Amino acid sequence: MAHKNTLWTDEADLNKDLSGKTYLITGANSGVGLETTRQLVKQGAHVVMACRRVDAGEDARKTFQDLKGTSEVMRCDLADLASVHAFAEDFKSKHTRLDGLGCNAGAVIMGNDAKYSKDGFEMTLAANYFGHFLLTELLLDMLKASAPSRVYIISSVVHANSPAKRYNVNLDDLNWKARPYSAFDAYGEAKVASVLYAMELAERLKGTGVTTASIHPGWARSNFGSGGPIWMRAAMALARPLTRNWSDSNWASAQTSLHVLLNDDVPNHSGAYYSQHSVLYRDPECRKGGWPMETPNPNARNMHTARALVAKTREMVGLDT
Ligand SMILES: NC(=O)c1ccc[n+]([C@@H]2O[C@H](COP(=O)([O-])OP(=O)(O)OC[C@H]3O[C@@H](n4cnc5c(N)ncnc54)[C@H](OP(=O)(O)O)[C@@H]3O)[C@@H](O)[C@H]2O)c1
Repeated sequence: MAHKNTLWTDEADLNKDLSGKTYLITGANSGVGLETTRQLVKQGAHVVMACRRVDAGEDARKTFQDLKGTSEVMRCDLADLASVHAFAEDFKSKHTRLDGLGCNAGAVIMGNDAKYSKDGFEMTLAANYFGHFLLTELLLDMLKASAPSRVYIISSVVHANSPAKRYNVNLDDLNWKARPYSAFDAYGEAKVASVLYAMELAERLKGTGVTTASIHPGWARSNFGSGGPIWMRAAMALARPLTRNWSDSNWASAQTSLHVLLNDDVPNHSGAYYSQHSVLYRDPECRKGGWPMETPNPNARNMHTARALVAKTREMVGLDT
């Protein structure tokens, strides 16, 4: 049963003919990304499913057989810059246009100690933020050439946290090398970075016809958390039925991504944050979400921080060397 506060994509948007359009969705084999992909294929688009596990992507793709559009799976591990570079090259060699990029994949890499990718990035930031940053920057020319086009980056209600403890990006220690580590706080900071990046990108892309957005998709009954330690998997399995009244199906959680890709009003708000309802907002006025809405976290609205973050990230992922 759908939650009474779920925001739904307009029927007219879900009936648009997307034939001839190409979309790229990361983490398209599971949860929110899978349902977003399925709907775009249903509407006639070609969707490139960027998946860390190709076999899982192919299994998911089999369920699209009777749909109007087409799809393909290409490997991309967002926590590995070499894999992102290889993916982008491969994508550009096979495709001439990109109408929408969905930076959807994400995970919290649980543990008491930080784990690091082979590029030296804290793993949660690597998978949620750094990989998507590089991927987007490598595909910007294609997005501009295909304009009007759109990019969304999935954040989370977690980025807002509470008025007593607002997350922020730590520009001196993005990778948690000089602070006591918290996996959950690393996730919160990665999701602040996602909101700030969408904002900065909107400023940089003004006048190009490329629209950006960040998203909280709702509380999805997806596979989120299933890659964690056994206690976390058990807790998630137990929580799913117990939290049914507050959580959303993957289809309901795909609504925000679909709205941002398909609705005609979205280009009027480039860089904005779009959120489903969430009981997890500690600021009660935010609980019903909004398309778009102002994040209650002032750190995630700070354009000065956004620009500094982007300059630093460009250097860290090797774009300015
Ligand atoms: N579930 C929620 O309630 C919730 C709430 C707020 C925000 N979100 C965000 O929503 C997005 C989608 O999550 P979901 O709920 O649909 O969870 P999900 O079912 O676990 O899907 C996550 C997807 O991300 C992929 N992924 C993880 N790490 C990756 C990497 N290093 N490289 C490439 N792909 C990677 C996963 O691939 P594998 O299948 O190979 O692991 C999977 O396809 C995430 O960004 C998440 O942070 C979720």
